Amino acid sequence: SGSKLWGGRFVGDTDPIMEKFNASIAYDKRMWDADIRGSKAYAKALEKAKLVTAEEKDNILHGMDQIHDEWAKGVFEVKPGDEDIHTANERRLKELIGEPAGKLHTGRSRNDQVVTDMRLWLRDAISILKGNSLQLITTMVERAAVEIDVLFPGYTHMQRAQPIRWSHWILRLIVSSVFAPVELAFDDISINSMDATGQRDFIAEFLFWASLCLTHLSKMAEDLMLYSTKEFSFLTLSDAYSTGSSLMPQKKNADSLELIRSKAGRVFGRCAGFLMTLKGLPSTYNKDLQEDKEAMFDCFDTVHAVLQVTTGVVSTLKVRDINPSVMEAALSPDMLATDLAYYLVRKGVPFRDAHGISGKAVFLAESKSIPLNQLTVEDLRTASPLFSSDVSAVWDYSSSVEQYSAPGGTAKSSVAAQVEYMRTWLKKQ
Ligand code: ARG
Repeated sequence: SGSKLWGGRFVGDTDPIMEKFNASIAYDKRMWDADIRGSKAYAKALEKAKLVTAEEKDNILHGMDQIHDEWAKGVFEVKPGDEDIHTANERRLKELIGEPAGKLHTGRSRNDQVVTDMRLWLRDAISILKGNSLQLITTMVERAAVEIDVLFPGYTHMQRAQPIRWSHWILRLIVSSVFAPVELAFDDISINSMDATGQRDFIAEFLFWASLCLTHLSKMAEDLMLYSTKEFSFLTLSDAYSTGSSLMPQKKNADSLELIRSKAGRVFGRCAGFLMTLKGLPSTYNKDLQEDKEAMFDCFDTVHAVLQVTTGVVSTLKVRDINPSVMEAALSPDMLATDLAYYLVRKGVPFRDAHGISGKAVFLAESKSIPLNQLTVEDLRTASPLFSSDVSAVWDYSSSVEQYSAPGGTAKSSVAAQVEYMRTWLKKQ
């Protein structure tokens, strides 16, 4: 243990299994650049505090630049005693510049370094994810604009509900912009040292954002998977995002969507697991906090991949047979039962009664085994004397969708307004 950063008071050696258990270098080396940036800034602060001379500071900065080159070229050699990235970089600095390297750690602990490194790393990671999510949002907005005229069944409880626009389905996912991560503020010093080193809220918030983002994408993946089955046949996935079966030659499986769906569980597990680690910890740094890194890296890698694959899936899938689409052909007159009730509402019937009358008409059509719009006016009059020949106007999917022109509605103007809202939002990002 004598060669370790903290080895002075130790006589015995570390157990080899403990050595491995304790080390984080295998994964925290990803933060090599952040660690170097942090140390360079710290060396400048040491000079200001007159704890190193200008020459020593220059030596440190120069050494750090050399270490940066080694990492960037992939030639930095991690040695057996390198417990973590902070240890590795300091060890290498000493090899390169000798004694002044030992002054760099004056007044700081790895506990300061690790939290600084993580903030720096995560700030860059979030900006990458923001780019990925904006790309996905842009793809979806433009798809919604192009296919705004395609109608298809809206479902509640997975039962046929009312006709809607396919674009309304696409936009529903993004109008509240939950995919775009909140940037990590790092513009000022932390005003409490115990809070600075012992708090990982910024990691927990990132893990929660990742969980919520993938929860939404898993729901979208589930819908798309269903719509792409032979039974629905609303859309076809591109071969680029599908796979086959080693046994059944006809199979085209939506593995991309299944994986998108599954990753939500993985990321949420990381989030819940890390919150469990935080729960009940004593103040300031405890080694438990080392668990933050694998959770953060894994969630970054997962969301990074999911956002890109989702963009690929959404930009390449095809709505089947536009004009008329299979989606539109899937609409059925029973989905206009609400409109039939509104017909009566326009004639002064309270909605609650109109709902009951329309329900009776649905029952009548079912018992005659005919579609709702095939009932004659005489049939309908058995449910209410207010029905007359103008009821035929109800059986029109387009006008049904067009009647909801308030903000948030299914009318073309309302959906177009959503598209414009999102385009404006995207310009501001
Ligand atoms: N590898 C450590 C971590 O990831 C760095 C901090 C170590 N601090 C300590 N007192 N052992 O948290």
